[in-house]
Amino acid sequence: RLLIIDFGSQVTQLIARRLRELNVYCEIHPFQTVTDAFLAGFAPKAIIFSGGPASVFADGAPMPPATAFTLGVPILGICYGQQVMMHCLGGKVERGHGTAEFGRAFVTPADATLPLLKGWFAAPENGGREQVWMSHGDHVSAIAPGFQVYGTSPNAPFAITADPERHFYAVQFHPEVHHTPRGAKLYENFVRLAGFTGDWTMGAYREEAIAKIRAQVGTGRVICALSGGVDSSVAAILIHEAIGDQLTCVYVDHGLMRLGESEQVVGMFREHYNLPLIHADESELFLGKLDGVSDPETKRKIIGGLFIEVFEKHAKALGGAEFLAQGTLYPDVIESVSFSGGPSVTIKSHHNVGGLPERMNMKLVEPLRELFKDEVRALGRELGLPAHFIGRHPFPGPGLAIRCPGEITREKLDILRKADAVFIDQIRKHGLYDEIWQAFVAILPVRTVGVMGDGRTYDFACALRAVTSVDGMTADYYPFTHDFLGETATRIINEVQGINRVTYDITSKPPGTIEWE
Ligand code: XMP
Repeated sequence: RLLIIDFGSQVTQLIARRLRELNVYCEIHPFQTVTDAFLAGFAPKAIIFSGGPASVFADGAPMPPATAFTLGVPILGICYGQQVMMHCLGGKVERGHGTAEFGRAFVTPADATLPLLKGWFAAPENGGREQVWMSHGDHVSAIAPGFQVYGTSPNAPFAITADPERHFYAVQFHPEVHHTPRGAKLYENFVRLAGFTGDWTMGAYREEAIAKIRAQVGTGRVICALSGGVDSSVAAILIHEAIGDQLTCVYVDHGLMRLGESEQVVGMFREHYNLPLIHADESELFLGKLDGVSDPETKRKIIGGLFIEVFEKHAKALGGAEFLAQGTLYPDVIESVSFSGGPSVTIKSHHNVGGLPERMNMKLVEPLRELFKDEVRALGRELGLPAHFIGRHPFPGPGLAIRCPGEITREKLDILRKADAVFIDQIRKHGLYDEIWQAFVAILPVRTVGVMGDGRTYDFACALRAVTSVDGMTADYYPFTHDFLGETATRIINEVQGINRVTYDITSKPPGTIEWE
């Protein structure tokens, strides 16, 4: 396996991503935890030093352990990783002073015969140079003994350096980012010369993850808050496969799920996976506490607080557990590990079981910590989860509460569930489900006048929402045809009593958000 030592770059996770695309198994560990003992235990076949925001001149500047260079394994240093390598091996790094470089640059070969560069540089008749992305303040001013220059850019005479004898490679730019369009080739060359054949698969991941879970948990008890979402489901099934009935799942039913959803989720896990599962029907409690509440943040806080309370109650009733399982993904991990640029504004208080492990003195089991979302889906397929389940649109923790602006009533929730089911049915029937990131109905806190048959109606209006997105951070509305919208509106008004007006929300994110609250 390959070790990535994280010096705090914002894009370290992209290095992992590129390697997984090459079917190479890697793990990222923050530099603080990579000690000599850690290295000896990890026994990497190759190491990558990530970039980072620090300067090698700073007090306590992040450094790799000295033994990294004596293991006899290939090392690739990226940006700060290059500077660290030069600094440690006898080269020289200088402060910026006008040579800082941010953005697009072009590297030309000084010697393209280096195996790391095989097939990378464009052919001479195509200009011979490659676009790369630079982002550095300090720069290398003298390379370490044994190293040579293999590529240069106007502002980085040491853009690509290497000591092929020892298999140490160091580049000033970031091959992992999108703006180094052919950077993946460099990673491919690096892992090949380190001896990786690219045989890492989700099947292998499954085996390794199971062994790790067993080693961590021993004979201890684990509980898991199962939401029915892909992440917690995959985590639960994997852990169940590892430790069987030492795992108990709690499905907290807050009464804010979609039509038939609780029955489907609970049924699937009990019948197909034989997983010990408590169906905690707490809808009375949640809906009671939400009665009369219309402020979105208050709703979120009430739901988040109750969720933890209920989960804790069931955990205690089970006699407690030493471990809490969570479907934390890699991007969530890196957000909390890397040196981010200061506190950001809270747009919405997201719902999770935060704070619970400390309160109950539990340790975390997070078998998906190293995976990206699409990899979790691949693992889900590997574990035999049905395709329609894996491909389901995301559903927010606070459920329908945030799709019911204003006060939440059982009547409105019932109407909303039915309208939502018709909309999703329409989308599936037209074969659009997989093209859409998320689709749902919001019931509006307004009644409008209509005419049906010969009578007057005074019913709720609703809004359809369907967006495309890659990560939920930005989104655009889905361009349904007028025919589709017309047919859907007719169906909802005919089939759902209580709605007499349908609108389509065409706001992108930003400035809107995907959910209405
Ligand atoms: P917004 O509305 O902020 O949503 O554009 C972005 C994505 O996050 C989902 N979402 C949540 N997911 N707990 C969750 O697990 C929450 O509290 C929550 N709020 C929003 C939303 O459905 C969309 O996919």
